[in-house]
Amino acid sequence: MSNFLIEGGVKLRGKVNIGGFKNAALAIIPAAILCKEKCIIENVPAIEDVNAYKEILTNVGAKVVMLDETTMEIDSSEIKEINIKQFSKNIRASYYMWGAGLGRFNKVTTPFPGGCNIGARKFDYHIKGFEALGARVEVLEDQTISLCADKLIGNRIYLDFASVGATINIMLAAVYAEGRTTIENAAKEPHIVDTANFLNAMGADIKGAGTDVIRINGVSKLNGCTYSVIPDQIEAGTYMLAAAATKGDIIIDGIIPKHLEPITAKLQEMGMRIEEYGDSLRVFYEKELEPVNIKTLPYPGFPTDLQQPMAVLLSSLTGDSIIEESIFESRFNYVDELRKMGADIEVNDRIAKIRGKGFLNGASVNAPDLRAGAALIIAGLVAKGTTEVNEIHHIDRGYENIENKFMNLGARIKRVVE
Ligand code: UD1
Repeated sequence: MSNFLIEGGVKLRGKVNIGGFKNAALAIIPAAILCKEKCIIENVPAIEDVNAYKEILTNVGAKVVMLDETTMEIDSSEIKEINIKQFSKNIRASYYMWGAGLGRFNKVTTPFPGGCNIGARKFDYHIKGFEALGARVEVLEDQTISLCADKLIGNRIYLDFASVGATINIMLAAVYAEGRTTIENAAKEPHIVDTANFLNAMGADIKGAGTDVIRINGVSKLNGCTYSVIPDQIEAGTYMLAAAATKGDIIIDGIIPKHLEPITAKLQEMGMRIEEYGDSLRVFYEKELEPVNIKTLPYPGFPTDLQQPMAVLLSSLTGDSIIEESIFESRFNYVDELRKMGADIEVNDRIAKIRGKGFLNGASVNAPDLRAGAALIIAGLVAKGTTEVNEIHHIDRGYENIENKFMNLGARIKRVVE
């Protein structure tokens, strides 16, 4: 068991380099098994969820080699079938084995995936999409799902909600399907575009990724390729919010500023100064910040994955604000922990009312999930005194070298391994 000990009160200063996007890497890594030739994936983040996916692929017979810390070579030529009894770790994105397995073998059996406990997180849109392509879906008694098709045939699929996971899964399953598949009301997140770009680099024919209509024309073969994952906009946004909360002045380097516009816009509305360069942003504090209201929305709206760090920032200001969570029904599970640090937050269903008192106090808190864990680190950086963040295995799932990156910005944070 490890935890982070944080001495609050330091204004962050310096430069932080952002790694590859977790959510893109976790789609691109399984997508590589659609191809029988070797793929080299660069800018893979050094995080636990990537290690877990490496294990999933290795267990089904792929050869996965790290050529360096962030470059992964995947050779899936020897995989015979995908019949997984147990996922090595509880990562939500293991559901991409469905689309990739169905696409490559017309058959796949896996347990249901785990992931952060932030709501029901159903799979009905994924299943609707697979069925529309001709797959038979069977849920077995031991919480195993089996997908099987004689042949996948392109179809028109309308998603009732622009689900990220379902959009990517349907793209994966449809790459070899006969004819054209059209996904309507598709999700538009940057990792949808990144996954489509990777598939196209292997020879797929996907158009429209990044808009709400994606068209996939089935192809008969994919070729190996080398591809670099886009920067992690959620990691970048976490450091931007940390800079604001600590009244700091930092450069966020190695990013695509456009992907950060929803965060940039809100921080500017609050009074933070942001200067944009080609692949970096300078985020700096100049005057007292004003509280704002936030509603989480699909991209390009304010991302649900940054709702928790934003709640910390708003709690550290003086004044009232409201956060409405429109994506997940129970994503305020961190509020009890923040209350231990003196935050005044009232939650009713999907609405949190924050009465900012202008300070937080150090306390011993538990990270309930990945993004809430990062938010509690920011709370510790702001708080008076010492904060102990426990259950940090959640944070290691998705943030690379987080304590080193914060230390390089001047934070007093250390990992205590018990
Ligand atoms: C992905 C991201 C996660 C992010 C989320 C929203 C990955 C690995 N995870 O999660 O970090 O917070 O997008 O941007 O990329 N839903 C259904 N039925 C379905 C599918 C989804 O009802 O079949 C609901 C979910 O319960 C949720 C909403 O739709 O309320 C959004 O889910 P979705 O966009 O699919 O998110 P995830 O793929 O789980």
